[in-house]
Amino acid sequence: MIGPARCSAPGRCAWLLLLLGGPIAAPAALPNDMVARGRAGVVVTAEPHATEVGLQVLRDGGNAVDAAVAVALALAVTHPQAGNLGGGGFMVVRMADGRCSALDFREKAPGSAHQDMYLRADGTVDTDKVQSGASAAGVPGSPAGLALALQKYGSKPLRELAAPAIRLARTGIPVDQFLAASLQAERKALERFESTRAIFWRDGKPLQQGELLVQADLAATLERFADGGAAGFYGGRTAELIAAHMQQHGGFVTAQDLQGYAPVEREPLRGSYRGCEIIGMPPPSSGGIALLEMLNLLEPYDLRALGFGSSQYIHLLTEAMRRAYADRARWLGDPDHYAVPVAGLVGKEYANKLRASMRTDRVSEVAPGLPPGAHESDDTTHFSIVDAAGNAVACTTTINSTFGAGEVCAGAGFLLNNEMDDFSAKPGVPNQFGLVGGRANAIAKDKRMLSSMTPTIVLKDGKPLLVLGAPGGGRIITAVLQVLLNVVDHGMDLETAVRAPRVHHQWQPPWLSYEPLALAPEVRDRLAAMGHTFADAPMAIGRVQAIAVLGDGERVAVCDHRSGGAAGAQ
Ligand code: DON
Repeated sequence: MIGPARCSAPGRCAWLLLLLGGPIAAPAALPNDMVARGRAGVVVTAEPHATEVGLQVLRDGGNAVDAAVAVALALAVTHPQAGNLGGGGFMVVRMADGRCSALDFREKAPGSAHQDMYLRADGTVDTDKVQSGASAAGVPGSPAGLALALQKYGSKPLRELAAPAIRLARTGIPVDQFLAASLQAERKALERFESTRAIFWRDGKPLQQGELLVQADLAATLERFADGGAAGFYGGRTAELIAAHMQQHGGFVTAQDLQGYAPVEREPLRGSYRGCEIIGMPPPSSGGIALLEMLNLLEPYDLRALGFGSSQYIHLLTEAMRRAYADRARWLGDPDHYAVPVAGLVGKEYANKLRASMRTDRVSEVAPGLPPGAHESDDTTHFSIVDAAGNAVACTTTINSTFGAGEVCAGAGFLLNNEMDDFSAKPGVPNQFGLVGGRANAIAKDKRMLSSMTPTIVLKDGKPLLVLGAPGGGRIITAVLQVLLNVVDHGMDLETAVRAPRVHHQWQPPWLSYEPLALAPEVRDRLAAMGHTFADAPMAIGRVQAIAVLGDGERVAVCDHRSGGAAGAQ
């Protein structure tokens, strides 16, 4: 879930800083810019050490995929709220020679999983079992996915790219304000696990800002991965530790599940919007489909003329969002287990049909499960990287909640994911993000749970224009949509586009969420008169890490002011 909203420097986001009690600067040697510009490589991540690790790989001659692997491993150490070895993710790659790829290293349900595994005898969902501790964990995908990305598109040895993460884990990093605040905020969820306290607690309480976080077990796990590649995680000592931990603590993942895990290289989803080409993540992410569906719905309208922040603009956004999220709930799941009608959903004809029910003057009925054409046979963190040659990577990885399942795998030193909650544990019952689903996303053995992660690359004239993505649960997709619209429709520069306040509607629950300053009082009144209802209080909607490549070749990397982290140029 979106944790405490975060900022990393004075003036970046006054209302969020209030929640934390004021800004504290990052260590001097680390990148500390929210915006970085350059003509060679640029990197933006949610944590400054990780940004620096990525920049160093680029300086040493690595490409964007090399840098992405090193950044992801560094985040597993320096950003334990979401960075991970024990989770999964998606990586959208666009190489300068035109090759594109969508790497799927989403976690999978264990082999013993079944539809009712999180239901109590009375038929209600056992939220604790599906969200907390070993029982909530799916089979990790990140190590295998990073190894595959490197093998297919990278150029450097894994050992070299893992070295900075191993060093950071072994020598330790001072706990920064964000990690300290997150540990404090999640104290209840974490302290019940002895293996977690052993690493993140000192003197009976969570590590405080400035204290050293040393992760010796994680360093050893990373070393085994660096030496053996995927086999050094899914087999040998690490696999033994995971399987033993699962057996002792009520988890379902077995040594056989680990042996059987394989990432999938998928065809990226492609669409168009106002002359741009959109390269997105296909299922088991809902991000690419929902983004394209919303863009298709909005394309005929002159959004710029309606004006950013106007009631008409927000109304149309909302109407598009409601339809895309209703389809998400009805149609989307793991394509290897459910016939997701991808082409139907992202087709312009389907959008034309859906648009017919949209009204410009008031909230209109969304018919859940409107058939989109024939069936075909069948705390998250995002970083964006563009290297000097123009290779681009958008990568989002997750352990689901902030600190995942809250439980560290004893001896292996990494936090377990609680990704099983991204399945629909019971049809129509919302998960922790309020998202509902049905058969398409029902739990089944070896199935991947549906995701909202939306790593996206936008091309203009065959070259990258935007590389972006975000954490934020169900709000990821609408955050990415709005930054894209802010640049393409409203002509904002990237920093303004990322900073601009956002809104969100996910069909169910049936209200509009909004950030502070997103709805001027008269706009809110007009929307209410059109039939809109509103969430009780403003909330952060995604934390976007984005790169724009300008017409003259300059690259601008922007770290969301809602997030910690840093942008850097090579
Ligand atoms: O894959 C998904 O959609 C979720 N596990 C993402 C969770 C998330 O973004 C939490 N972050 N703030």
